Amino acid sequence: MPIELVFATHNAHKALEIAAMLPDGYTMKTITDIGISEDIPETGDTLEENSRQKVDYVLSRHTCNCFADDTGLMVDALGGEPGVYSARYAGENATYEDNVNKLLSVMEGIEDRTARFSTVITLSLDGNIYTFTGSVEGEITTSASGSEGFGYDPIFLPRESDRTFAQMTMEEKATISHRGRAFAAMIDFLKNYNTTQND
Ligand code: IMP
Repeated sequence: MPIELVFATHNAHKALEIAAMLPDGYTMKTITDIGISEDIPETGDTLEENSRQKVDYVLSRHTCNCFADDTGLMVDALGGEPGVYSARYAGENATYEDNVNKLLSVMEGIEDRTARFSTVITLSLDGNIYTFTGSVEGEITTSASGSEGFGYDPIFLPRESDRTFAQMTMEEKATISHRGRAFAAMIDFLKNYNTTQND
């Protein structure tokens, strides 16, 4: 019997990225698929707290195996901002474009443009909690380039590349991205977990 995992997200981009990586023996649904339509509150001060909060929210309503991720973009010259507030950097109902424009304008004239994306994943599996992390170093460009991806992708240039995340295919991005790395760690764990269970 495959193990079903519920991904605590409404973000179709993320769900596609992850569904493509899942090993044999697992199926995935999102919270949208199981009837949770509201946005899950994220009130923690850290990525760890927020990803755990999302998992706890789902578990308080459904009995399931569940995972959640939380990501922040940390800009060195801004003391780590927008960080845990990346989704609402330009205000409560900010669009991705609003956030990108705000960051570009805050960084106007700043020379040190180094930044990193970090992701923390919390997984609740058979009643146990596991945590996985991933990050990618890079810099904030001075203007937006590319039309793929989402969020800050058009202005994030990873150190490994001369193209922004928004100029990469989903697969290319996933091989070096914060979330790709954190999920790769979770996928490795899941592969071994399933093998151990079936021994
Ligand atoms: P979340 O915790 O994954 O929802 O991410 C918070 C915010 O960080 C999102 O609303 C995006 O603005 C940004 N973000 C997260 N992941 C990415 C990514 O892969 N590329 C660009 N921006 C991202």
